[in-house]
Amino acid sequence: MDTTWLVDPDHAYLNHGGFGALPLPVAEAAAVIRAQVEANPTDLLMRRWPAQVDAVRQRVAGFLGAQPANLVFVANATAGTATVLGSLDWQPGDEVVATDHRYPAVASQLGVLLRQGVKVVEQHVPVDVGSSAEIVEHVMSGVTARTKLVVVDHIASPTGFVFPVADVVAAARERGLPVLVDGAHAPGQLPVDIDALGADFWVGTLHKWVCSPRACAALVVAPRWHDVVRPRVASHGYAAGYQAAFEWTGTADPIPLLAIPAALDFWDGLGWDAVRRHQHALVTAGAHRVAEALRTEVAIADRFTAAMRLVRLPVVLSREGEREALAYRLITEYGVTAHITEHAGTTYVRMCGQLYNTPEHYERLAEALQKALD
Ligand SMILES: Cc1ncc(COP(=O)(O)O)c(C=O)c1O
Repeated sequence: MDTTWLVDPDHAYLNHGGFGALPLPVAEAAAVIRAQVEANPTDLLMRRWPAQVDAVRQRVAGFLGAQPANLVFVANATAGTATVLGSLDWQPGDEVVATDHRYPAVASQLGVLLRQGVKVVEQHVPVDVGSSAEIVEHVMSGVTARTKLVVVDHIASPTGFVFPVADVVAAARERGLPVLVDGAHAPGQLPVDIDALGADFWVGTLHKWVCSPRACAALVVAPRWHDVVRPRVASHGYAAGYQAAFEWTGTADPIPLLAIPAALDFWDGLGWDAVRRHQHALVTAGAHRVAEALRTEVAIADRFTAAMRLVRLPVVLSREGEREALAYRLITEYGVTAHITEHAGTTYVRMCGQLYNTPEHYERLAEALQKALD
């Protein structure tokens, strides 16, 4: 697939999942939108803003299989998670179940609840788990009579693990429990159908795998929670209900939101299914090459992965700053960017597959890790 991106073509950039990256057509469309906004910021940000947000909302809701009435835009996935957790009525002794794949900033938001006397139960889900039923069992065995919420990743950050979220939601619903899905990595990497999923709360990023300029995220809240979920920072229209409460929470850069349709056009033109097949095949072949060079193995069964793969490192880097130090050496000494990560005491390299990546990038990662770990 012949596409041009702004990432440095001389660098092996294998961390698309970290912060996204811009295809040239989306960057150009964003520059045009920027010029239109700057021609009259007041007109855009006041008179035209509600209609603009609504048009983008319709498009994103269609893309995510959500009802437009349930979807609001938030600054990023961290803000979306904090919004949901901060809106629920927690009492000392309440419990929330999460997994040991959760993103660190999600752990931080859950940490806020600890101060209210809430117990956070973090369930271990092994990366070599064999079936969706086992995963559901690992998650749900943390539930007690005091559990108020289950938090699960759609695609986990430290592992790239694709969780069977529909099964987790169904199991939680049987116990009468709401589920917050951290879908930061899902839009673009996976087909998403939030209505079919039935999650009470879902938050996903539009600057990672949809590639709108960073940062922008969608929060989708089931109707039964519309009276409960409110932003931490009140909008001008706070009193007017769920969506109005999020519409203007202070001046922010409007470009990430306004450029989402251009980003979706870019991917529609390529065809999502073909893109996803290409990403998975590319990163899976690359991961096997890295594992072969390191004499380790690719973690996680193919069916629980999408465009991010995990390879075990032959060393354990557990001391403060050690993993970051290795990742920074890869950048500065070897021209490779990849995420060095940890799960359940094992150290891994996480690599991504995006259209600007080539097999040579994984080759470079393999050689760089061989030399750096020597
Ligand atoms: C799984 C997951 N959740 C949440 C986040 C936080 O996203 P943001 O930095 O946009 O708030 C990330 C970021 O990488 C993530 O990977």
